[in-house]
Amino acid sequence: MSGVYKPVQITDKVYWVGAIDWIIRDFHGYTTKRGSTYNAYLILADKVTLIDTVKAPFKEEMLERISALIDPREIDYIISDHSEMDHSGCLAEVIREVNPEKVFASVMGAKALKEHFQFEDEITPVKDGEKLSLGNMTITFMETRMLHWPDSMFSYLHEESVLFSQDAFGMHLASDERFADQIKQDIIEYEAATYYGNILLPYSPLIGKLLDKVAASGLDIRIVAPDHGPVWRKDLPWILQQYRTWSEQNPTDKAVVLFHTMWHSTEHMARAVEEGLLAGGARVKVMSMGSYHRSDVAYEVLTAGGLVAGSSTLNNNMLPAMADVLTYLKGLRPVNLVGAAFGSYGWSGEAAKQLHDVLAEMKVDLVSEPLKARYVPDRDALQKCFDLGRTVAERMKGALG
Ligand code: FEO
Repeated sequence: MSGVYKPVQITDKVYWVGAIDWIIRDFHGYTTKRGSTYNAYLILADKVTLIDTVKAPFKEEMLERISALIDPREIDYIISDHSEMDHSGCLAEVIREVNPEKVFASVMGAKALKEHFQFEDEITPVKDGEKLSLGNMTITFMETRMLHWPDSMFSYLHEESVLFSQDAFGMHLASDERFADQIKQDIIEYEAATYYGNILLPYSPLIGKLLDKVAASGLDIRIVAPDHGPVWRKDLPWILQQYRTWSEQNPTDKAVVLFHTMWHSTEHMARAVEEGLLAGGARVKVMSMGSYHRSDVAYEVLTAGGLVAGSSTLNNNMLPAMADVLTYLKGLRPVNLVGAAFGSYGWSGEAAKQLHDVLAEMKVDLVSEPLKARYVPDRDALQKCFDLGRTVAERMKGALG
């Protein structure tokens, strides 16, 4: 052990003992421009308890941080709040090295961990609402099924009012600061929203219910300690309200114009759509898939009320970058969007209809049939694009009520 990795105290008895990943830029398709952290927490209760572990290559970093406080073999309990490999990747090895008395996970978590690591009876399943005594402290488990995996759960430490929230309220942000209030607010806002838009968006209806469940629980939550990014200690009302807003996805006056182009014709169409949207009173974000990553698009769509998509036709299909981003967006299941599809073509011209069909599958409220322009859009074609944008903006305004 190098001895260079140290823990960070979160409360009297809770320490951050996770790992910082400054390098990662691709998190299963989500571009993590600022890296990430894999947070694990050590509770120095009578029963010394480790909350979650870290991604496999970071095991030694975590064990070093723990070793600065105790001999890791003194860990009595490990709680796995989430089975995904960024939090469980080194769990089997840690169990072997530490030999804890018990390892806890939700019922679904116990099954998932067994299937990941061929465990036999290493994991003790716990139920929603079940309490665990750590001797002088107590944890209550709260199932958060499908947020964002079937196994996911929260653990609440009563004596120090800490909610360990696994992925929820987290963000991919590598930093040496461990608390959200130590980091510039614009970075926090951007990364928290990007995380929500790229990971949690499909489960928004459940998130609204979870927020209600947490509020109704009467738990005195003062610290929220997620599995990625900084810990919340001062800005809890802000992040809770953001989650409420994002989960509702109410209509907004912002439209995203998403396109990719071969010879600038679809680009000219996109710009005419943009002008029409502006004339109709919408705010607009124009995103060429030559310039943006799919996760940038997810961030923008999270707070959009309109989505207009354009592509040239290449070999009877939309351009590959558009297929990529729309496959991604469709999986994220955004709601309450007004939109349309457009694109230039030479002779076959399938792309605009293909885009239209994907938007329809996404339940986007489409204002017209797909709009096509042959080779290079002329004045008349550009006027049609402008009119399309204005129609989308007007429908968006209507949705605002
Ligand atoms: Fe951070 Fe769903 O794992």
